[in-house]
Amino acid sequence: MTISVLFVDDEPNVLEGLRRMLRDMRQEWHMGFSESGKIALEMMDQKPFDVVVSDMRMPQMDGIELLSEIKKSYPHVVRIILSGHSDKQKVLDSIRVAHQYLAKPVQAEILKATIRRVCSFKELYFEDRLKNFMLQMDTLPSLPPLYAKLKEAVENPDVSTKKIGSIISQDIGMTTKLLQLVNSAFFGIGSHVSDPSIAVQLIGLDSIHALILTVEIFVVFKEAGPASLNLEQLMSHSLAVASLAKAIVLFEGGDEKTAGDAYFSGMLHDAGKLVLAAYHAEQYREVLNRVRKEGYSWDAAERSVFGATHAQIGAYLFCLWGLPGNLVKAVSYHHSPLEGLQEKSFIQIATAVSNAIIHKMDGAFPDEKAYPYEITEYIENIGISDKLPAWENLAKDVKVMVSHE
Ligand SMILES: [Fe+2]
Ligand SMILES: [Fe+2]
Repeated sequence: MTISVLFVDDEPNVLEGLRRMLRDMRQEWHMGFSESGKIALEMMDQKPFDVVVSDMRMPQMDGIELLSEIKKSYPHVVRIILSGHSDKQKVLDSIRVAHQYLAKPVQAEILKATIRRVCSFKELYFEDRLKNFMLQMDTLPSLPPLYAKLKEAVENPDVSTKKIGSIISQDIGMTTKLLQLVNSAFFGIGSHVSDPSIAVQLIGLDSIHALILTVEIFVVFKEAGPASLNLEQLMSHSLAVASLAKAIVLFEGGDEKTAGDAYFSGMLHDAGKLVLAAYHAEQYREVLNRVRKEGYSWDAAERSVFGATHAQIGAYLFCLWGLPGNLVKAVSYHHSPLEGLQEKSFIQIATAVSNAIIHKMDGAFPDEKAYPYEITEYIENIGISDKLPAWENLAKDVKVMVSHE
């Protein structure tokens, strides 16, 4: 399947540079180039592109206006801003309309990788029903602004916890949520923390990242509408899965980085549920109904109502936001790990198995004593049956922490 990408920049030199830089992609992509927002919209009118990469500063219609227009008329199109560093404030404004943001001058490899991620995802998931479902959504949520600010700050190796703390304090809702989490028994800190920068110090930059994005996603979706979902419950489930996934990685001798990634993926694995519950509250109630009253499994109920599962939808969103590929995959296969069997990534295993262990402890499976077929088969297949008892033991410690919250 070829993907079509439209590049928009008022400077002919920049467009020419992009054209040259991407010449070797001509087999894979259909590319269009436009010198103004107006022409870009006319081109979209004839045949919408899958991805639009737009400059920020342009006369008449700037990048934000163009992408807002595209967001309105072609909500399923992936919108990327390509902009100079001098436009900091503008970039922050653009986060509401752009799915991703790249800094100029962009390296060929980064640009290709960013667009490719969107493409490989498209090939994976654009089955007709999911495509239709995504098209029905007025807009796809954008990457939360605070996360983008933090990501930029964390990329600087000299960044201090104080600086991170001060970025967080700009957002009162976030500060409250974060401190509430840090002070919960969950982190076992003992003393009361009221300063976000101390919270950052205690939790560590890696986990802060994951926490911030998660909390922000929860807040954004809460604002989107009356959700037919217990948010607190989902949050504590996510925390439990995250902590178990991290504990498993460390227990098996994995490094801190991998453990941090596993934590991240555990925190976010069910974010697709938030999208469904917030944007499709009515239909989501129907899903709950089918699970509770008609004995459907989660997956089957979601597929029957939406044509897609929360795992696929969460992964779709993270892909749009340009989150790392291993995270996207871990999220997308967390209920159907057999589909992602060729990827033997530690994060993926930790996420799927932790989720299953926590669900089993909560008595969420129809047969309370056993894992569903998909999970048992997966565990067999990757040869970790003998490790399972130890992992289940780790889960008991995690559960104790969560329940004391
Ligand atoms: Fe899930
Ligand atoms: Fe889950």
